[in-house]
Amino acid sequence: MKTKAIAKANKNTFYISTPLYYPSGAWHLGHSYTTVCCDAIARFKRLNGYDVFYLTGTDEHGQKIADKAKENSKSPKEFVDGLTDNIKELWSVLDIQYDKFIRTTDDYHIASVQKIFDTLYKQGDIYKGNYAGKYCTPCESFFSLAQLKEGKCPDCSREVKDFEEECYFFKLSKYQEKIEILLKSGEFLLPDFRAKEMINNFIKGGLSDLAVSRASVDWGVKVPFDTKHTVYVWIDALSNYINALGYNGDNKGMDKFWGGEVVHMVGKEIVRFHTIIWPAILMALGLPLPKTVFGHGWLLLEGDKMSKSKGNTADPFYLIDKYGVDAVRYYLLREIQFGNDGVYSLEAFLTRINTDLVNTLGNLTKRTIAMVKQYFGNTQFIGYGSQLMTTEDNVLIENINLLFSKVEKHMNKLNCSLALEEIFELVSAANKYIDVTMPWVLNKNGEKGRLHIVLYNLLEVIRVSANLLLPFIPDGTKRIFECLNLNLPADFHDAKFNRDTKYEDMKDEILYKRIDIKKELEN
Ligand code: ME8
Ligand code: MG
Repeated sequence: MKTKAIAKANKNTFYISTPLYYPSGAWHLGHSYTTVCCDAIARFKRLNGYDVFYLTGTDEHGQKIADKAKENSKSPKEFVDGLTDNIKELWSVLDIQYDKFIRTTDDYHIASVQKIFDTLYKQGDIYKGNYAGKYCTPCESFFSLAQLKEGKCPDCSREVKDFEEECYFFKLSKYQEKIEILLKSGEFLLPDFRAKEMINNFIKGGLSDLAVSRASVDWGVKVPFDTKHTVYVWIDALSNYINALGYNGDNKGMDKFWGGEVVHMVGKEIVRFHTIIWPAILMALGLPLPKTVFGHGWLLLEGDKMSKSKGNTADPFYLIDKYGVDAVRYYLLREIQFGNDGVYSLEAFLTRINTDLVNTLGNLTKRTIAMVKQYFGNTQFIGYGSQLMTTEDNVLIENINLLFSKVEKHMNKLNCSLALEEIFELVSAANKYIDVTMPWVLNKNGEKGRLHIVLYNLLEVIRVSANLLLPFIPDGTKRIFECLNLNLPADFHDAKFNRDTKYEDMKDEILYKRIDIKKELEN
């Protein structure tokens, strides 16, 4: 008993977060992208023995949200409540296993934001002054004239407003040198090229102090000692990552997860906030920094082919309902080379599903099980001891045994697309192994011993691949284990070739239905 408790306490921890999304309009595939990536990584780490904390949530304050609520004739709170319920529903149908959902309107969060503001003010990191410059409301961002691109917001290219207000400032300039060292460390911000962008675009010109309150915005957290001001949304939002762990509360999650392996996954447009402002605040609070901020690319929509009349094809609810949760998860995880931008089109989406899930994974599974049943009946089908094997067998088995470490290597770099590429390489190799070994010929020639070896090796490919695919496509892999009539693995311990797995009473079901792409595109 004792050793067990100790082993548990020593488990490595892993904390991963998505951005807190603005509930300002309909949720689309872009939000699903980050959340699915984080979910696959979190599931992989859990199966790999880590104690995982996966956080997501919504960023509900600020002028942009207040304006949207008004357009919809709702109070801000009513408005964000509806969209927050809706995103939770989306995460449920996408099979997202987060550990906590934080809303910036949660009481404990608000109390901690106020405490942080107060602390920084008392220690002199926040001071009162006057701000005159430009403001981009969609980005909730301050800019100096020099930072604008052709007079417009350098982040989103929209119009900026003149902005002059008495406000509080955070002494960001004080942390300039430390932030530069951090960004140059090569560990903190991934992929590498984003760190260079940050240094060239923001650090080289010098960091100015940051306006961290708004007198003209009412929908926000009040500055505790000067309530006509509200806390700037980015200070409010960023601090969620520690507030969710009980910072300024019971601190339990902080003790357990903060200071361990911490990953913030964000889109490239908000890397600046996470790698300049956020570490500076943590430094001011005397807290450890996250290990990694990963700035992923954008999912872009192809041309303007999207329209209501064609069915809103980038609506995740619609896609999941029509093509299944695995299709959407798999497409998002596999199609976009992690870190880069990718263009979404319905055709590419459907093609990806047919090629990989239907023709490669589904086909291997159904075909193999069907052959076992046809040639050996439905009774026990067990391994084959130390009988002679061919070079093809040995290569296949070696690749089964190498798969876990290959996948783990990519996942340690948070690269789901390469991890999936490795797994599907093995699945494709197994389909080729069928072409080469020709089980139907072995059967015809009465070579039962050889036939047994070949089919058993194929079942092992399916079992090990499905085990490693659990974090990515939880629905289909669950059905694969049902077809194999095996328990769902709780970890990766058996993700290797095993000479005596017992297969019996298997089912040769269709895992994924083939999509008639031409017909779908005409609809
Ligand atoms: O920025 N492609 O919220 P937000 C890829 N509240 N990812 C996309 C995407 C796309 N087309 N569209 C959205 C905010 N995303 C702040 C964050 S964090 C403390 C506060 C994802 O609703 C991506 O992760 O604008 C991006 O960074 C995030 O949604 C922006 O969500
Ligand atoms: Mg945004």
